[in-house]
Amino acid sequence: MIHDKLKAFPKDFLWGSASAAYQVEGGWNQDGKGKSNWDVYAHFPGTTYKGTNGDVAVDHYNRWQEDVALMAEVGLKTYRFSVAWSRIFPEGKGEVNQKGLEFYNNLINELIKNKIEPAITLYHWDLPLALEEEYGGWESRQIIEDFTNYAVVLFKAFGDRVKYWISLNEQNIFTGHGYKFGLHPPGVTDDKRFFQVNHIASLANAKAIVEFRKLVPNGLIGPSFAYSPAYPLTSKPEDIIAAENAEEFINHWWMDAYVFGRYPQMVLNYLIEQGIAPIIEPGDMELLAQGKPDFMGVNYYQTTTYESNPLDGVGSAKFNTTGKKGTTPETGIPGVYKTKPNPFLQATDWDWTIDPEGLRIGLRRIASRYNLPVFISENGLGAFDTLEEGDIVNDDYRIAYISEHIKAIQEAISDGVDVIAYCTWSFTDLLSWLNGFQKRYGFVYVNRDEESEKDLRRIKKKSFYWYKKVIETNGEVK
Ligand code: NOJ
Repeated sequence: MIHDKLKAFPKDFLWGSASAAYQVEGGWNQDGKGKSNWDVYAHFPGTTYKGTNGDVAVDHYNRWQEDVALMAEVGLKTYRFSVAWSRIFPEGKGEVNQKGLEFYNNLINELIKNKIEPAITLYHWDLPLALEEEYGGWESRQIIEDFTNYAVVLFKAFGDRVKYWISLNEQNIFTGHGYKFGLHPPGVTDDKRFFQVNHIASLANAKAIVEFRKLVPNGLIGPSFAYSPAYPLTSKPEDIIAAENAEEFINHWWMDAYVFGRYPQMVLNYLIEQGIAPIIEPGDMELLAQGKPDFMGVNYYQTTTYESNPLDGVGSAKFNTTGKKGTTPETGIPGVYKTKPNPFLQATDWDWTIDPEGLRIGLRRIASRYNLPVFISENGLGAFDTLEEGDIVNDDYRIAYISEHIKAIQEAISDGVDVIAYCTWSFTDLLSWLNGFQKRYGFVYVNRDEESEKDLRRIKKKSFYWYKKVIETNGEVK
């Protein structure tokens, strides 16, 4: 629909930014922190761009006060960050490391002092290594109990001051990259294990939500899902089916489990036929149904376009981690779908489509299928930035990207979607997992690169001043 007048953003709309522990903190062994799977994986030769790792990252663990001061200056209403499980439980379970709790406690208090609502992510991919070694991490049902115990410690410690909680960040990505494509730890490529791990992770997600209800009755919790809405390449019926398949396999498989406590029938049917369906034990589906979230957290970066894929067509995925545009090949599931470039959309240097309208489409789809508020937990542009003389970064492309996405959110709100928050990814520059430090997302430039930590100086980009105005005017200026 075309609105002749757009609704204003709600008065208490949460304008924010997001980060993740491994990508910003560094301090990998400070104050009793245990090792995480990423602390070792990123050190294996050939796993990440130019061998980068998060040992130091952008040193937020030691510079958090400076970072919060910058957040206060820009006027963030919320800051979403993750807790490193291995800081709280160095061995994943057992004794709590008080120093770890203290770090986040101080951060939370400082945020609140600056009128910034803390939003905690329980799990953003850094699993205590001890659990991977003891029982294979997410492959064992034992993790349901250990994850829940860890979550309970955080609910008890911070539930009095923290209202917004994200349970699992991008379950679809950490399991896909970890167990299907072999790109993240533990580097497995096995569809059956991938679906089994997902089932276990969904159960852990539900169990943590069940405990949350008891301990943080006034809080709100939900997972952050990496939502890439599916488009058909053409109006050929077989392409429509391919796009619908993708929506079921890539999106509903997770979101239906979170909200309805069931899996899409069509996908389950396919998995059973292929012999790769997860083992569902008695009581599992009941637990899933009890773990309904309060909102759908959405990390939105791009849409994906699909066409039909013959039975002998393309399979597994390869990704562009170098920033050399046009290096992402087609991928798919034979007989189900395959990806195609969308002729109507531009893409980033990492071949991610730039599609603000796709965010509106995604928000509308979530609203009509799940009838839940949406917490946009990530959105942003990964780009090469140039530090000019005099500590200037003219990132007009980032301003344009975020501005268009904010407009799309306002359209969605005008359509009737209940959007409660918008967190840009990210606040400071950070480590982009496989992509090194050159893929920058922040409003604050961090002076380091793949080769050297330099001085890790914080430098405000042009977008920093622009986002400040957006927040001050509650989205009127954008
Ligand atoms: C989503 C992930 O949650 C985040 O960790 C990552 O850096 C961004 N996407 C950008 O790729």
